[in-house]
Amino acid sequence: MKVVSLQIKNFRNYKNLNVNFDDNVNVFIGKNAQGKTNLLESIYFCCIGKSFKSAKDKDLICWGEDTGKIKMTTQKKYRDVTVEVNLSKAKKKSVKINDIPIKKIGDLIGEVNVVFFSPQELKLVKESPDERRRFMDIDISQSNKRYFYQLSRYEKILANRNKLFKNCSTLDAVKETVDIWDRALVTAAKFLAFERKKFVEEILPFAVAAHHFISGGKEELAITYKCGCGVSLDEKFEENMSKLLKKNLEKDYKLGYTSIGVHRDDLDIFLNGTEVKNFGSQGQQRTVALSLKLAELEALKQRQGEYPILLLDDVFSELDTERQARLLKFVGRTQTFITCTDERNLEGKNFVVKDGNIINLNN
Ligand SMILES: Nc1ncnc2c1ncn2[C@@H]1O[C@H](COP(=O)(O)OP(=O)(O)OP(=O)(O)O)[C@@H](O)[C@H]1O
Ligand SMILES: [Mg+2]
Repeated sequence: MKVVSLQIKNFRNYKNLNVNFDDNVNVFIGKNAQGKTNLLESIYFCCIGKSFKSAKDKDLICWGEDTGKIKMTTQKKYRDVTVEVNLSKAKKKSVKINDIPIKKIGDLIGEVNVVFFSPQELKLVKESPDERRRFMDIDISQSNKRYFYQLSRYEKILANRNKLFKNCSTLDAVKETVDIWDRALVTAAKFLAFERKKFVEEILPFAVAAHHFISGGKEELAITYKCGCGVSLDEKFEENMSKLLKKNLEKDYKLGYTSIGVHRDDLDIFLNGTEVKNFGSQGQQRTVALSLKLAELEALKQRQGEYPILLLDDVFSELDTERQARLLKFVGRTQTFITCTDERNLEGKNFVVKDGNIINLNN
């Protein structure tokens, strides 16, 4: 999978951009606040349909403008894909794939796969379980559209179940209709929980290998999937989860929300038997987050038969020189976009980013 070219009009601080990329490594060098991250964000947006910065679509339009546009041309193993995103202050974004408008963002996800890493991705290890669920969701969705749709179905069912608690004045009133939501919730939860478990088993060997490689082989990484459904992942999952939902109904009604389900899932991450979230050093946490992302790269390759695009934002500022050198060995496997603030002798196409413009240094 390769991004061949990118055209941008009024996206973030880019007014007008037309750029062709190298098939292997593209390096973007620039001082702070010039547009390096914005450029990676535009590529990511064409792959996932939203920003990695949890920004609103309207905030991505260049200040003072009403519309913005990104057009990304890619080459895949078996077919080429052009993604066009149109952003507007007045209406919802629209996306075209090979000139055909798509109806749902789910139709975009999985077309051009991407893995993004920046120092902020440390939150994957350090912050709340939301981050780890988001990591699983984006990764699995890129290779499994059914997962993407089941996840949005689950979220709607959950919202409806919780709404019932708010709208009913007595527990008896809740009991009259809750069964419909419970049945639907359990079915969706089963699908998602088993997919997440499978995903963790799949990325684990890659993450262990990547962590060994980048850290110099001193630490043993372990990751386990912690299901929030409160029951074992076996053939009795649906029956047991239904029972538990019933058992918790009064408690959930008082709380006003559903206390079990895949929306409470998490990943437990350990280094040499110690929990990384609370006890790992900053460097260890960073390396674990990077290893998870590199594992994602390998898992997507295994699932899809080709590597996704790799976006590395500002990674050098955070890694020691040994780790940097080891990371760069990984980079050669797939088309990579790297940003940095200082010029480095990196092989590939080098660009300077200055005030929303890009100059190719190799010409
Ligand atoms: N919607 C927008 N319209 C115009 N400019 C924007 C918009 N959103 C952000 N910017 C500006 O874009 C500039 C470049 O941001 P970006 O994050 O890409 O910088 P960077 O080159 O990655 O810098 P750093 O090295 O500090 O990470 C910032 O000054 C920011 O204020
Ligand atoms: Mg930046």
